[in-house]
Amino acid sequence: MDVELRGITKRFGPVVANAGVNLEIKGGEVLGLLGENGAGKSTLMNVLCGLYHQDEGEILIDGKPVKFDGPGASIAAGIGMVHQHFMLVPVFTVAENVVLGVEPTGRFDRLDLETARAQVREINDKYGLEVNPDALIEDLPVGIQQRVEILKVLFRSADVLILDEPTAVLTPQEVDDFFEIVKSLRDAGKAIVFITHKLHEILEISDRISVLRAGRITGEGDPRQLTEEQLAEMMVGRPVSFTVDKTPATPGQPMLDIKDLVVMRDNDEIAVNHLSLTVNSGEVVGIAGVQGNGQTALVEAITGLTHTSSGAIVFDGDDITRMSVRERHRRGMAHIPEDRHKSGMIANFTIAENMVLNSYYDDEYARGAAIDWPHVSETAAAFCVDFDIRTPSVFLQAGNLSGGNQQKMVVARELERETKLVIAAQPTRGLDVGSIEYIHKRLIGSRDEGDGVLIVSSELDEIMALSDRIVVMYKGRIVAQFDNTGGKADRNAIGLAMAGATEGAAA
Ligand SMILES: Nc1ncnc2c1ncn2[C@@H]1O[C@H](COP(=O)(O)OP(=O)(O)OP(=O)(O)O)[C@@H](O)[C@H]1O
Ligand SMILES: [Mg+2]
Repeated sequence: MDVELRGITKRFGPVVANAGVNLEIKGGEVLGLLGENGAGKSTLMNVLCGLYHQDEGEILIDGKPVKFDGPGASIAAGIGMVHQHFMLVPVFTVAENVVLGVEPTGRFDRLDLETARAQVREINDKYGLEVNPDALIEDLPVGIQQRVEILKVLFRSADVLILDEPTAVLTPQEVDDFFEIVKSLRDAGKAIVFITHKLHEILEISDRISVLRAGRITGEGDPRQLTEEQLAEMMVGRPVSFTVDKTPATPGQPMLDIKDLVVMRDNDEIAVNHLSLTVNSGEVVGIAGVQGNGQTALVEAITGLTHTSSGAIVFDGDDITRMSVRERHRRGMAHIPEDRHKSGMIANFTIAENMVLNSYYDDEYARGAAIDWPHVSETAAAFCVDFDIRTPSVFLQAGNLSGGNQQKMVVARELERETKLVIAAQPTRGLDVGSIEYIHKRLIGSRDEGDGVLIVSSELDEIMALSDRIVVMYKGRIVAQFDNTGGKADRNAIGLAMAGATEGAAA
């Protein structure tokens, strides 16, 4: 099945998210769709899947114009989308989620879950998805939840699959497996639109590339003839540096001192296992490790989002193990959370409100018992300029920002104040190459002002580029440590430690 978008324009008030976009999507092909944060990628795909209606232009399927009055019509026409932010019901099983809205019914109109399960298994086998239909969504790792989203779309017999930043939340191993699935879908004749900010991925998986900038297609190309540097420049309109400029660290006194820390998971498994770690002022320590080895629990313990079982956390000389989140924040701890929606922002608050979410009670924003809103909005507007957050106003609901601009909002709030310690988990998730360059600069800037900086990232490249010292976390413990002055840490050795090769050896 082939789809053609002709002259698609979509406006939100004064914002022109798509301006006369032409795009061809062909069966048996992966179209890579690139563009900076806020370029209009998600909006364009939401028009194609019937969630938004275009103001101008038309959609043709196999040469015939079609009109979608909602997602139902688009699904019926064979178009399915896996959204940037998942839309699964956590307490339902895989099969229940997959059939939601199109439940096969048996006698007396009762939900026929047996048929659903069988159909799920069939699709599973056909494309190598390997998902257990009876598993509860909340028990599944993100990589598998993603496959459930794909199952959902395939269950509705989609011939066109739109994948909006599917790899943003996947580990490198999960990406490899995911690409195998994408290839088998393509080889079965499906048309695939693949959105990502990771340039090496788009070069690896796409058959054709289109670039959006400020709502317009600004470039098209053949992945076999393009380099990452060229793609980056096509996206942001200037050359982008992929390396981080920094001088060697000059570490001072301990800013964060974790002593023999134990954190348990809800299911009574040990998440952080007698871990000790020091982050000094003026240095960046990177935690490398495959997701699921306790990094999330460690960050939650440091920032006060979870309880610790034993051990101590000392921040700038004071024991904060039992202190509230607010108190830690007040003392100068910044936290960029790995999941911005869960613990970083409130989608139906304005951008201005989000910018002071954890500081509105500070002297700076207080006017008697009330909040000095003019000052808040002025400050928020200045943050937006610094971090290049693309929005017509700070009074817009934060949830209406593009995904990457939401992330920039959270990072701006955390870094644009006096801090002593920055805890950054997946700080550049969903950001375009230009924004990554800026956020990296800011993190190094925090270090150079004397902050201790702790980075957790599933991107080894990011850890290598930013860190002065790298520790590897495996099964809740630190199993290896590397000096990375001048970027000289041994990547191979880090990889081995991440896979558990040094387990048992002294670290
Ligand atoms: N529901 C909405 N209401 C108002 N403005 C919106 C809405 N949805 C998107 N926009 C605006 O449209 C523009 C394009 O956003 P879109 O989400 O399509 O970008 P994107 O290319 O997907 O970016 P990202 O890479 O950050 O996900 C942005 O300026 C965004 O703020
Ligand atoms: Mg998007």
